[in-house]
Amino acid sequence: MKSVVITGGCGFIGTNIALIAKKKGYKVVVLDSLIRPHTEENAENLKKEKIEIIRGDVRNVEDLERLPRKISGIIHLAANPGIPWSIQRPLYDFSVNTKGTLNVLEFARSNGLIPVIFASTNKIYSEEINLVPTVINKRRLIWDFKKINKKKVRNAVLEGISSAGVNENFPMDSSGGYPHSPYGVSKASADLYCQEYFHIYSLPTVINRMSCIYGLYQKGVEDQGWLDWFVRAKIEGLPLNIYGNGKQVRDCLFGTDVAELYLKELENINKVKGQVFNIGGGIKKTASLLEVIDYLNKKGGKKLVLKFKSWRPADQKIYISDVSKIKKTLNWQPKVDVWSGIDQIWNQNKGD
Ligand SMILES: NC(=O)c1ccc[n+]([C@@H]2O[C@H](COP(=O)([O-])OP(=O)(O)OC[C@H]3O[C@@H](n4cnc5c(N)ncnc54)[C@H](O)[C@@H]3O)[C@@H](O)[C@H]2O)c1
Repeated sequence: MKSVVITGGCGFIGTNIALIAKKKGYKVVVLDSLIRPHTEENAENLKKEKIEIIRGDVRNVEDLERLPRKISGIIHLAANPGIPWSIQRPLYDFSVNTKGTLNVLEFARSNGLIPVIFASTNKIYSEEINLVPTVINKRRLIWDFKKINKKKVRNAVLEGISSAGVNENFPMDSSGGYPHSPYGVSKASADLYCQEYFHIYSLPTVINRMSCIYGLYQKGVEDQGWLDWFVRAKIEGLPLNIYGNGKQVRDCLFGTDVAELYLKELENINKVKGQVFNIGGGIKKTASLLEVIDYLNKKGGKKLVLKFKSWRPADQKIYISDVSKIKKTLNWQPKVDVWSGIDQIWNQNKGD
């Protein structure tokens, strides 16, 4: 029987993966500390599907020792997933994101080289992305590659970005020039450890550098999970703080699309092991904050009240993943478009 352990499996992405894996006939075991508020609700949904939940912390080696060993792989999602929290509590962020990942890698290494699929992030690429000039359209920023100052922008950067988005060659290290955020750094170091465990110990690892993921079971708050948070704010009539001009653009990938992808990677581990992928909705599935706000306002009722504030540190003005590598490697395509995805979370949150 196919079986998978999901760390952080009661979180948003974990719940999506766990439910789909169960439907596909996997035995699913989840390890989660339930530190994220409201994840107990996701845990209840998982329990209804007879998914085993172990309450434990990836920072504690003894908690990992409680996991089964005869498994097809580990999907490692447990993390502090937010930049603001990482700025307020960098040591905590490091201990969960870097040390926790190292603990998972060691567990996998010492138990027969169990494949590990790691949730990395686009935040490992620094603010250097903002060196691509943008033009301001009415509701969104647009990259203007013709205006790039080639004297100021390193060749490595030019190789890592095109009108198709940011590819895996974009430099992780900005040579000291630009910030990443402590979250970006703790994830970058975990990302490198995953690469290293493949090279040094032949541990089959896969690294997914994900951009904006959104969907059902997300407990979005202002600091993390913006699309879900915007939907909640509209439904509950809460004011929205907008950091910057609201024209920032993100590519957006729906939770079920991510879940299908992680399981496909696990099932094709020999094809993808040792590789790094940029994962997101790609160039065809993008939205700016203002476009999402316009869309939600069209749903009727009181319009969202916006409070504009200064740009946040290390904010990428536009981030769009170039997903050609993963598409080509696994013949994978995201299915859900941004607006129908928002409709699905709208309907779920309305029913809460
Ligand atoms: N959601 C996104 O847009 C996005 C984008 C890029 C990367 N990621 C990464 O994907 C992963 C999952 O993100 P998510 O959005 O589902 O976040 P989430 O907060 O919903 O899920 C994380 C889960 O991990 C658990 N957890 C936290 N610390 C733990 C610990 N020390 N031990 C065990 N469990 C712990 C939490 O309780 C939570 O259930 C994270 O690693 C995040 O960095 C997410």
